[in-house]
Amino acid sequence: MTTSDRYLAFANSAVGSRLANALGLPRPVPLERMPSRDDSRADADTDASPRAMPIRPAVVGGAGDAPLLPDLARELHRLGMPSLAHAERLDWISHANQAGTMSGRFNPSEGVRAKALLFDASAIASTDGLSALYMFFHDTLACLDKCARVLVLGLPPTLAPTPQASMAQRALEGFVRSLAKELKRGATAQLLYVSPHARDALHSTLRFFLSPRAAYVSGQAITLQAPVFPTPPTHDDRPLAGQVAVVTGAARGIGEAIATVLAHDGAHVVCVDIAQAQGALEAVATRLDGSALTCDIAAPEAGATLLAHLATHAPRGLDILVHNAGITRDKTLVRMSEAQWQSVLDINVGAPQRLNQALLDAGVLRANSRIVGVASISGIAGNRGQTNYAASKAAVIGMIEAWSPVLAERHISINAVAPGFIETQMTAAVPFAIREAGRRMNSLGQGGQPVDVAQAIAWLAHPASGALTGQVVRVCGQSLLGA
Ligand SMILES: NC(=O)c1ccc[n+]([C@@H]2O[C@H](COP(=O)([O-])OP(=O)(O)OC[C@H]3O[C@@H](n4cnc5c(N)ncnc54)[C@H](O)[C@@H]3O)[C@@H](O)[C@H]2O)c1
Repeated sequence: MTTSDRYLAFANSAVGSRLANALGLPRPVPLERMPSRDDSRADADTDASPRAMPIRPAVVGGAGDAPLLPDLARELHRLGMPSLAHAERLDWISHANQAGTMSGRFNPSEGVRAKALLFDASAIASTDGLSALYMFFHDTLACLDKCARVLVLGLPPTLAPTPQASMAQRALEGFVRSLAKELKRGATAQLLYVSPHARDALHSTLRFFLSPRAAYVSGQAITLQAPVFPTPPTHDDRPLAGQVAVVTGAARGIGEAIATVLAHDGAHVVCVDIAQAQGALEAVATRLDGSALTCDIAAPEAGATLLAHLATHAPRGLDILVHNAGITRDKTLVRMSEAQWQSVLDINVGAPQRLNQALLDAGVLRANSRIVGVASISGIAGNRGQTNYAASKAAVIGMIEAWSPVLAERHISINAVAPGFIETQMTAAVPFAIREAGRRMNSLGQGGQPVDVAQAIAWLAHPASGALTGQVVRVCGQSLLGA
């Protein structure tokens, strides 16, 4: 169950939109999201389904040699996305044709509505060269469709050949984060640093960012590095077929959405939650054809309980472990009891560490498996009344950073998502004024849905996402908190 955003609905009604315009109030648009399994049946032949929408092209540009363009052409072909070449980059047409996809010239006066703007900035070698960004985006931004995507590709600054090139590549972050704040009508922008070893590992990331899966992610800088394991071939319909995932806190809210999306992507999901949530937990597990495990993850025997369950339900080992269960016990520090401090730290970060250790010691995590933590923007920005919670969520980020090099040697990736304001029972309990501020203080002017966090986790969990490790991806609509 999620709470409803009445202002979003009002601002998009006939009367509300006129009033919002007249008063200069923000007009957040309903974001395009992937249809759920039920929606896709109901909406299959209607214009309400994103799949039924006309396919809009991507407009593609690049600076200098733009070495990633052939890789982009291959991936756009795989995603079935048509493209147009910006005037500066007519060589794109031959890259696209070679990849087997049709492409033409972009002409701003033709009134094209583009679903994506893609720019390969990886060859920019000096700050003077950044003007290529100005030329491309100045020409193309006005043609962006609703809920469109802007993607800038760069080279990780640490891998740039000269200090000047490194500075120019670092500049891309400021550019993309600012551009994301200028976009309207649900459009988003991201920066993707692609290391030379990751050029074959673009697929799962483009599949995520160029689709409604990434509806509530904006202003992020992501790095693709040498994959922890050779990228296996995957089926886009059910990329997790044959895999086993564990999701803690799966009885409701974000955890239920994560379990749903992973099951939809083909995984057998072991749904874990506390005994008090047993009824809801079993309903979720039954709906998803998964299995239910009642277990307090903070209990000393939690690791052994999970291992015993996996011995029956996943004898070949585990592929995905999502540490979603979390609690808040908000109080200013002077008023906070020791128990409130301790329980938050223990459930949010102590238990995930112990579970990781138990599974690693038992050798249950398979090669190319994934660990995903759920942090929070509170762990990045800090929040009054949340010293315990913010410390625990910052420690989750620390866990990802500290463990990623160690786990890469065992061919395991570890990443985190950091949600912002997500419409759940947790945020429904927040007082109205604070709730409204949380909802609106981001570039998309609205709260996210549990499915937005779930889709980001499914992307990180994808078998072809081994080039992503040690990353913390904010799912917050580019919240101003900690930006
Ligand atoms: N809702 C938001 O806006 C938001 C924002 C940032 C981060 N998060 C994080 O996302 C995660 C999920 O949040 P939510 O809003 O869905 O919360 P929720 O309270 O709706 O759900 C949390 C689930 O975790 C379970 N759980 C709690 N303690 C447990 C334990 N010891 N063992 C096993 N299960 C346990 C609960 O029973 C519940 O089903 C949490 O880690 C939360 O900190 C949420």
